[in-house]
Amino acid sequence: MRSPILDYLDTLIAETDHIVGGAPADYIPELAAADPDTVAVALCTVNGTVYASGDAEHHFSIQSMSKPFAYALAIEDHGLDGIREKIGVEPSGEAFNELSLDPETGRPRNPMINAGAIATHALIGSEHEPALGRVLDFFGRLTGREVQLDQAVADSELATADRNLGLAYLLHAAGQLAGDPQESVTGYIRQCAASVTVSDLALMAATLANGGIQPRTGERLLCRESTRQLLSVMATCGMYDAAGDWLTSVGIPAKSGVAGGIIGVLPGQVGVAVFSPRLDGHGNSVRGVEMMQRLSDDLGLHLM
Ligand code: DON
Repeated sequence: MRSPILDYLDTLIAETDHIVGGAPADYIPELAAADPDTVAVALCTVNGTVYASGDAEHHFSIQSMSKPFAYALAIEDHGLDGIREKIGVEPSGEAFNELSLDPETGRPRNPMINAGAIATHALIGSEHEPALGRVLDFFGRLTGREVQLDQAVADSELATADRNLGLAYLLHAAGQLAGDPQESVTGYIRQCAASVTVSDLALMAATLANGGIQPRTGERLLCRESTRQLLSVMATCGMYDAAGDWLTSVGIPAKSGVAGGIIGVLPGQVGVAVFSPRLDGHGNSVRGVEMMQRLSDDLGLHLM
């Protein structure tokens, strides 16, 4: 028998079909070429059952949804105290591509904005295990399959990376970047170009909901401490300068990506992922936000 959850997800897609506001990201040419009507949603329970609807096999780049997972790896390498010394945890209230350094400490405000994520990427890995390989291997364990780079997206973003390079050089000048600016941005942009589906993302989110244990393989991929840390930062900073609106209305830790994906995590219960490429002024998917709002209302996901 077909699951009622799948019927619900089909209805969610049908009922948000009229939402055509916003536009695909245009500062990365390859993303501007996305079919704006592609849409998908997936949900994964903490026992590893995935329900998906819409263009569920469509691959797109993970973009900023990679940031919380890279942050977890950096915590693993440097410890929580070590990372807190280098990257802040305060919402910036500014756009994701602003420099947003803490005036007192000089640290990037948080690991979800680009400046914080470039600094985070530079803190991962070692001579023997470069950061990008480490991140992709981690994505592979989280999704249970080998995750590839979307080379066209990576090349397109690398060719138009002036702003991120500018951020990296400013971080470096402020003594806040552990690596070479050019190399750090190249690695970070490749990290953002990892190619995933909504089902992959729902499983990644469900691993966070499950306290860091991948629900299908049973492998512990994150310790409880880093899971708690990254979920807290997702809750306060994951939706950038729309984070307050998001937490009060949708009410779950979440992270968006500029290709049009959003992941949401309800601890102990479920991981959710949506995809639709048209973005609002904050860089969050317009239809994706609406689908998440409805999921939260219909399934009672709001934490408070
Ligand atoms: O660095 C960038 O601008 C992109 N690779 C990622 C930005 C992003 O996904 C913002 N989120 N909505």
